Amino acid sequence: MTKTRLLAPTPEGIAEAARLLAGGGLVAFPTETVYGLGGDARDDRAVARIFEAKGRPRFNPLIVHLPDLDTARHYARFDAAAERVAAAFWPGPLTLVLPLGQAPLSPLVTAGLGSVAIRVPAHPLARDLLRAFGGPVAAPSANPSGRVSPTRATHVLDGLSDRIEAVLDGGPCAVGVESTILGLDGPPRLLRPGGLPVEALEDCLGQPILTGGDAARPSAPGQLASHYAPGVAVRLGVQAPKPDETFLGFGPSGGDLNLSPSGDLVEAAANLFHMLREADGLDRPLAVAPIPEKGLGRAINDRLRRAAAPRP
Ligand code: TXA
Ligand code: MG
Repeated sequence: MTKTRLLAPTPEGIAEAARLLAGGGLVAFPTETVYGLGGDARDDRAVARIFEAKGRPRFNPLIVHLPDLDTARHYARFDAAAERVAAAFWPGPLTLVLPLGQAPLSPLVTAGLGSVAIRVPAHPLARDLLRAFGGPVAAPSANPSGRVSPTRATHVLDGLSDRIEAVLDGGPCAVGVESTILGLDGPPRLLRPGGLPVEALEDCLGQPILTGGDAARPSAPGQLASHYAPGVAVRLGVQAPKPDETFLGFGPSGGDLNLSPSGDLVEAAANLFHMLREADGLDRPLAVAPIPEKGLGRAINDRLRRAAAPRP
């Protein structure tokens, strides 16, 4: 178990937070909206630990935090509309969902999608931390799944004490609700109302933004039954694979691929999307060993059920 440290909002505190992130640790930090639970967005294991610390039953895609638009252009493709809203509202409480860029990210961050959610927060401590770390930081709100988002360092400790390495204490958050999420990987869609009013976005874009059911449906990746389905057929809970199947094992079951030979669910989560892709490339039906329905196993099984669901 980790003893969670409270880091002061000083150059030393920021440097220590950046050092912990670089070592694969989890650090909660203030943004102007809510406290985020940060981990290196390139590090599968750090990202898996974010889901574990939150007790999230699903691998929903996470927001990638960056210090500025120049850096963001490495991780996502910005068309004219994206450039325009980013120039107008970043740094600030706006997240853009855009087509993936060139620089690598853990597939757990994007839940295997071809798009990525990017945000440049305005809080000076968040910006200092992102600059000091020098890489992309995945950060959902720093609360256990199903609880309200934290707007003070003490809220973070209430929920996540001893599950994360540190909290950078920046006092209360000014906005207090999460960022507005705008989908620009197609016609502009409001994916989540938040700290930036949608009217401001419409004024900036000079066109209406789709809201409500139609906007949300294609974009709520967690909700799609067969989201990130591999091309090959998938069978779950398999003890004895058939001869023509690729066997994705867990623990001592062995297998052609194994999510975690030691039966570690954090390791299994970190490997999940890579191994699904690898299995997909082998072009044989895929059989998956049973995964315990506890801790991160719930999120892994949720994703596997989607991978095995009938294709639309
Ligand atoms: O204010 C905020 O945005 C806070 C602070 C910490 O920055 N962060 C936050 O992150 O609320 P999170 O991970 O809780 O929100 C992620 C949301 C989810 O609703 C997810 O579905 C959506 O972003 N999302 C992420 N990537 C997406 C994608 N590629 N396509 C569609 N939605 C995406
Ligand atoms: Mg949240």
